[in-house]
Amino acid sequence: MNDNELFTPFNLGNFRLRNRVGVAPMTRMSSPGDSIPRPDVLEFLVTRARNGAAVVYTEAIVTDYESAQGYPRQARLLTQRQIDAWKPVTDAIREAGAISIIQMFHCGRMAWPEVNPAGRTIAPSAIAPRQDNPLTGAPYPVPDVISRFDIEHVINGFVETARGAVAAGFDGIEIHGAHGYLISQFMSAYSNQRDDDYGGSVENRYRFAHQVIQAVRTVVPAERLLTFRISDWGVADMEVSLFNTAQEWTEVIGLLDKEPLDAISVSTYDYSQGVFGTGQLMAELTREAANRPLMICGKIYDRTNAEDALRHADIVLGAKSMLLNPEWVEDLRAGKALPVYASDEANVAYTDTPLP
Ligand SMILES: Cc1cc2nc3c(=O)[nH]c(=O)nc-3n(C[C@H](O)[C@H](O)[C@H](O)COP(=O)(O)O)c2cc1C
Repeated sequence: MNDNELFTPFNLGNFRLRNRVGVAPMTRMSSPGDSIPRPDVLEFLVTRARNGAAVVYTEAIVTDYESAQGYPRQARLLTQRQIDAWKPVTDAIREAGAISIIQMFHCGRMAWPEVNPAGRTIAPSAIAPRQDNPLTGAPYPVPDVISRFDIEHVINGFVETARGAVAAGFDGIEIHGAHGYLISQFMSAYSNQRDDDYGGSVENRYRFAHQVIQAVRTVVPAERLLTFRISDWGVADMEVSLFNTAQEWTEVIGLLDKEPLDAISVSTYDYSQGVFGTGQLMAELTREAANRPLMICGKIYDRTNAEDALRHADIVLGAKSMLLNPEWVEDLRAGKALPVYASDEANVAYTDTPLP
């Protein structure tokens, strides 16, 4: 018998979640000019809360006006106007019985200069992804090596965004350490070849994540949540494992487990695949190294596999199913036969078409 049944409550920090199903963070590229998402994109999040999700993550919010942005029309939460735009959304999500969590990110070497007001691309080392940027068709620029000054400046962007999120009424804040963006670039030897105290050993490569977490926690009140998302894969050079061995992964998870985090969120392509040649699932391996509440995501599409994913985790997050099926939570409850959506079906996320 699985204790973590999908439709049972779960205590996460100060919050009692009504079930174990959440909306995964999804970038919508709908915020031209003012870095405020289109009204229908904000309403999409509220609809998911009204339709039964217990946790609603925002898209990845860009942490500064200089070098953090990786895609066109991304959102920020740094000005009073941006705070005013999000406040009714967090209120409506709460009224609907769910909690809201903002995800914040810096894209590091995944930027291209044109979308960043300061035109800079910074990363732990001067190494570009091997593949071209699919949105421009051109190679990613070789990044500037992030300096000590940059590091403090970038951390400040995370702190300021977290302050914006607190002012906007978010119940939680997530630091995006997954998918090959800046924090992930530091953690992975694939993109971090520094020889100072931010490179080399796992602990050194983890140092930047640690500093971001510690700095952000100081502005997130104890009664609100701080979560961290991590993955073994990145959106560029997808075939590359960002951690080399199960031991490296569990070492990083062990370091995260010592942080003042309320949950660790693990993103996979497919939760049901064995990892690092161990035959163990990512959630299973992670759970062995961490006592924190665990969220799992990746090809969870129907009741049977959602329950299966919860064998080693506390909360399941759905991305494409949440995006494409507004009734997904109720369909899960009903045990309906549901489709697995392909990635290209999710491209509708980036159109002007309002989603139901
Ligand atoms: C349209 C779209 C946008 C996404 N944007 C983000 C993002 O901003 N931050 C993030 O951590 N993951 C993002 N993801 C990844 C998802 O959160 C999730 O990890 C991935 O889609 C696998 O889950 P699924 O099989 O339920 O779709 C995005 C996925 C999609 C489909």
